[in-house]
Amino acid sequence: MRLDKYLSKSLHITRKEAKELIREGRVKVEGKVIKSPDYKVREGEKVEVGGKELKPRERVYILLYKPTGYLSTTEREAQHPSFLELIEEQFGGRKLFAAGRLDVDAEGLLFITDDGKLAHRLTHPKWKVEKEYIVELDRDFKEEDLEKLKNLTLDGKPVALVKAEKLGDRKLRVVLTEGRHHIVKRMFKALGYNVVSLKRTRIGNLKLPENFEPGDYRELSEEEIKELKELLKLS
Ligand code: URA
Repeated sequence: MRLDKYLSKSLHITRKEAKELIREGRVKVEGKVIKSPDYKVREGEKVEVGGKELKPRERVYILLYKPTGYLSTTEREAQHPSFLELIEEQFGGRKLFAAGRLDVDAEGLLFITDDGKLAHRLTHPKWKVEKEYIVELDRDFKEEDLEKLKNLTLDGKPVALVKAEKLGDRKLRVVLTEGRHHIVKRMFKALGYNVVSLKRTRIGNLKLPENFEPGDYRELSEEEIKELKELLKLS
C-alpha cells in the first residue's frame, strides 16, 4: 500500500494531510525517513510518525452513545442532525453508517462502521444478534402482560423477543434478535402502553460503556473486533 494511503487509513486523516506529514520528514519506514508519498509499504514493515509506530486498519468500528435528538441515518439537512456530526472531527470524510436504526427520540448504543458485510450480519435476524433495550412506559406495567409480551405477533410475524424483565413499575429490560422499524414501541403499544424513553444498552457482545455520556464514542479494540467477527462467523 502507498505510504500516504497507509497513513490516512491508520490516522484517519486525508491523503493531503498524510502527504504533508511525509514531506515534512516526520515519517519513518524501518527506521529511515521517507519523503515520497508513493513509497510502497510492504507487509510487516514498521512505519512510525513522530517516533510512534502505526498499525493500519482497513475498517472502522465505533461505539457511540447516541443522544436523543440525533438521527441514526446519514442524511444531512434533515429536521434533526445526523450522528455523523458527533464523530465528524475524527472521522469526517469516511463513508460510515450505523448498523441498526435507533429512533431520533431514542438514545444509547449505535454501532458505526464502514464494513458492510459485518453490519449486515449484525442486523439481519438470521444471525440472531441480541439487542438489549431499557424501556420506560407511561404507566405501570402489569405483571400478567409479561407473558403477552413474550408471545406477541406483529404484522403477522412473531416478535423475536428473547428476554423481557421488569426492573421497576414502569421500567423493563427487553432483549430482541430483530430490528423491525419501531419494534419496541410497537410491541408495547400493542398492549396499550406508550414508551416514554428508550435506551439501547447492548448489541451482541458490545455494551454501552457505563462511563459514557451522551455523545461519547470510541473505536473498538482489536480484541473486541476479533470477538465480534467470531460471533458473526467472519473470521
Ligand atoms: N425499537 C424502537 O421502537 N425504536 C428503536 O429505536 C429501536 C427499537
